[in-house]
Amino acid sequence: MVSGRFCIGKLHIHRMKMMNKEDVLILAIESSCDETAAAVVKNGRQVLSNIISSQIDLHTLYGGVVPEIASRKHMEQINQVIEEALIQAKVTLDDITAIAVTYGPGLVGALLVGVAEAKAIAYAKKKPLVGVHHIEGHISANYIDNPELEPPFICLVVSGGHTHLVKVEDYGKYVILGRTRDDAAGEAYDKVARAIGLGYPGGPKIDKVAKEGNKNAIKFPRAHVEGAPYDFSFSGLKSAVLNYINSCEMKQEKINQADVAASFQAAVVESLVSRTIAVAKEFKINKIAIAGGVASNSALREEMIHACEENQLEFFRPSPILCTDNAAMIGAAGYYDYMNGIRDGLDLNAVPNLKLGER
Ligand code: KG4
Ligand code: ZN
Repeated sequence: MVSGRFCIGKLHIHRMKMMNKEDVLILAIESSCDETAAAVVKNGRQVLSNIISSQIDLHTLYGGVVPEIASRKHMEQINQVIEEALIQAKVTLDDITAIAVTYGPGLVGALLVGVAEAKAIAYAKKKPLVGVHHIEGHISANYIDNPELEPPFICLVVSGGHTHLVKVEDYGKYVILGRTRDDAAGEAYDKVARAIGLGYPGGPKIDKVAKEGNKNAIKFPRAHVEGAPYDFSFSGLKSAVLNYINSCEMKQEKINQADVAASFQAAVVESLVSRTIAVAKEFKINKIAIAGGVASNSALREEMIHACEENQLEFFRPSPILCTDNAAMIGAAGYYDYMNGIRDGLDLNAVPNLKLGER
């Protein structure tokens, strides 16, 4: 194993592709936040196993993810999760072609557990090691559930830490066209959920409660970023919700939780959908995908279906289990990185603020 990140070159890959009649099996590991996950993925799109050990119940006690607890829990769980992934896929480490692991962005202590484990396996079993960007993983979840999907396409990435509009030009080739200026969409969901008394994790709770509410009950603002039509901003919306709650309290009026949830959600979804459609039209790309934890939101999925139908765009989305953090998506991304010749050395480190497309 050589140290440092390098690329073995396209020519070599082509030869490898032609010569290699065998399947490429990726053992993927994900530990960037509060899910310890491992998966075995065949040829980038076929999931042989996808094991997720969630720590949500533990962090719920504290109202959010506690980094120190997350790292410790990852250490307790990781070996068992990997073992289960191999057993369920009916393979051994010897059958695995390469190890893919999330190395950023995320919580540094949490990432380190997965990275150290992946390096240990790669070293012991003399397998290639491929570091994967977490967001690249979210985007690649679309390849698993949509076998016909090929780049180029526009992907709206909406998670707890990110809100990005990405042009996927090719496998592993991304251009960020829009991003949030402040809170990520999932972060806004989590903060508003806490403010209206729904607790953690906020996204799925608002999604559920909003179904009982009137989305036109309260007109919350839809922010536009001056001079950056594809950027997002959710902090003003969050403040508007907090102000609304305060003004109700001052008037000693009880807030209607479902109406606030539905009206807040309508504002988020409208901002996300309108910009995604506008980007697709501007760049003349007729395929749209969504990714990340918030992509499992039922209102976002419905509105995106409508908007894509209206604008004659093809719409792709992963099943909800592949939207939130999992390792199968890292296996899909890792496969394409591996086929593109990406290899990492044993000096691979966790990079908590890793940028998309940075290698
Ligand atoms: O992608 P993810 O699992 O982790 C990160 O990489 O951040 O996303 C987690 C985020 C949380 O903010 C959570 O509240 C949000 O996704 N989320 C949802 C839903 N399910 C998860 N937000 C809205 N509606 C949902 N159904
Ligand atoms: Zn994520």
